[in-house]
Amino acid sequence: MRVLSGIQPSGRLHIGNYFGAMRQHLQLQEQNEGFYFIADYHAMTSGPKPDELRQNRLAVAMDYLALGLDTKKTVFWCQSDLPQVTELCWILSCVTPMGLLQRCVSYKDKVAQGLLPNHGLFAYPVLQAADILIFDSELVPVGADQKQHIEVTRDIAGYFNNTYGETFVLPKDHILKSVAVVPGIDGRKMSKSYDNTIEIFEPESSVKKKVMKIVTDSTPVESPKDPEKCNVLALLKLVASADELADWEKKYRQGGTGYGDVKKRLAELLIEYFKPYRQKRAELEKNIDYVKKVLKDGAERAAAVADKTLKKACLNIK
Ligand code: ADP
Ligand code: TRP
Repeated sequence: MRVLSGIQPSGRLHIGNYFGAMRQHLQLQEQNEGFYFIADYHAMTSGPKPDELRQNRLAVAMDYLALGLDTKKTVFWCQSDLPQVTELCWILSCVTPMGLLQRCVSYKDKVAQGLLPNHGLFAYPVLQAADILIFDSELVPVGADQKQHIEVTRDIAGYFNNTYGETFVLPKDHILKSVAVVPGIDGRKMSKSYDNTIEIFEPESSVKKKVMKIVTDSTPVESPKDPEKCNVLALLKLVASADELADWEKKYRQGGTGYGDVKKRLAELLIEYFKPYRQKRAELEKNIDYVKKVLKDGAERAAAVADKTLKKACLNIK
């Protein structure tokens, strides 16, 4: 099955991105035809500093490669290297009713958060539809926050097919629900926009410091604690074995365990979990030309597929 997903280079990727999305992307590439890309044109809608966007684009590429994206099998590229998508985006814009975009919650959310609205931010779902439809994508693994954008994509494909004839495959979404929302060190959802993240590849010393800062309640060491209400355990769940987790939960209920102990163990486990990938990440950092070449080759492979769909759409218009 053809699986496609994109991730915005809007900051350094964090363990919420990894456990909430990237890990599943990497697993899905094994049994499927994976098409994954860096959505830098989408990231432009939030007005990033040009230098940061430049750095984050390469950082996302290195993160995926270090974590095991297999470029022999999976097609991996950067959105801005594929102009076919923006051409299709215009064509799709012309069959997209304004009302469909006005109903999109992610636009409203971003404006409510104080983001200066630009036309790109409003039209964001149409570009996402073009990303998906140009590759005849069958499965689109995304977090729950993106479900509406997949529904909009299906609507837009339907409007086009009804008007100009059968052209696009209607994709299925595939909501990544195996992991609940990963909390950040302040207890809110871990997110680049809240400055509460633990980055996948930040220095080990900084991982330790951030883990020690995770917000907990003020229950004294001797008292029993509710394992369901602890941010540290919510993160430990992602990296500890089932036996170890059960053991901590028991200790919490009994009392006598301080948050400091479990934080120390969490830092150790997080560092251990990502250790095998750090070496590869460091090598890539020394070989940026290789990373750029991977993206360039990926864009060529992606273009071969995108050209065909775009041509089909254009023929149906004329
Ligand atoms: P951010 O909120 O950090 O800007 P994005 O919106 O770019 O993250 O999300 C990229 C992907 O990572 C999405 O599929 C999203 O569902 C997933 N993701 C982001 N934050 C979390 C989190 N805290 N827990 C689980 N999944 C997350
Ligand atoms: N909007 C997605 C996000 O913020 C990123 C994205 C862009 C995407 N184009 C896509 C995801 C196409 C899936 C398919 O997470």
